[in-house]
Amino acid sequence: MGKNYPRVSKEYEDAIEKCRKKLRGLIQEKHCAPIILRLAWHSAGTFDVHSKTGGPFGTIKNQQELAHTANNGLDIAIRLLEPIKEQFPILSYADFYQLFADKLFFYIYYTLKLAGVVAVEVTGGPEIPFHPGRTDKIESPPEGRLPDAEKGSEHLREIFYRMGVSDKDIVALSGGHTLGRCHKDRSGYEGPWTNNPLIFDNSYFKELLSGEKEGLIQLPSDKALLKDSTFRPYVEKYAKVCFLPWSSVELMVVAMHRRCYK
Ligand code: HEM
Repeated sequence: MGKNYPRVSKEYEDAIEKCRKKLRGLIQEKHCAPIILRLAWHSAGTFDVHSKTGGPFGTIKNQQELAHTANNGLDIAIRLLEPIKEQFPILSYADFYQLFADKLFFYIYYTLKLAGVVAVEVTGGPEIPFHPGRTDKIESPPEGRLPDAEKGSEHLREIFYRMGVSDKDIVALSGGHTLGRCHKDRSGYEGPWTNNPLIFDNSYFKELLSGEKEGLIQLPSDKALLKDSTFRPYVEKYAKVCFLPWSSVELMVVAMHRRCYK
């Protein structure tokens, strides 16, 4: 409440809706939800709450930023998305790259809220955390603002606090690893975190607690969540949350039905 979000034209709003549909189609066809989420997160995760630099303002498509070690492989996502972006010249890249992630975050928010994990602070329905109208910036942030998978909880706090993110959110966001996998040629690691890397649920937290298994990966930064006495209770909590069934294509529909399978 009280924030002055940018206002956009009806034409812009229509383009957002049409573009969402195209994105859904692409994700369904190519099963590329994980890399698109990683793109959205790496674009947003450079934000510095103090200097207000970095963040989701479309700069991730700059060659210079794509060349940051943490962004290895994200050129694939940029190339996948470009044919859709070309159809919507009115949209900023800033908005475009976040379109998929906003649904996912809405879903997480909605699920946690249903499970009583986040406080119900609004009287009307949940606030959809996407406000279009951010304009693109030109200058990329310096390298080194994204987390290093080799490091522990002190590093995670340093990186995420700079974004203005709390301990609880560090753990919830790490649940992004429910989707997708590591690729040897991109990060040096190999394998998925869960047995269903295209389904978003809380299996990341369950797997983390149940220990390492053949064929599944746990990065040092994932394991750090278990060792830290503040992070660990959130891992345990999220492992118990009953997530709504989700596939990247049906996200909103299913979330709205409020059906819960365990
Ligand atoms: C907590 C600190 C984090 C570290 C150190 C980290 C590190 C990594 C690494 C090393 C990979 C493998 C990249 C590859 O080889 O393709 C990866 C993939 C991924 N990350 Fe993270 N990550 C973090 C947080 C997050 C967050 C907050 C999200 C989203 C909310 C996220 C979403 C993803 C997704 C979806 C993939 C899979 C991409 C694919 O399958 O192509 N990560 N991450």
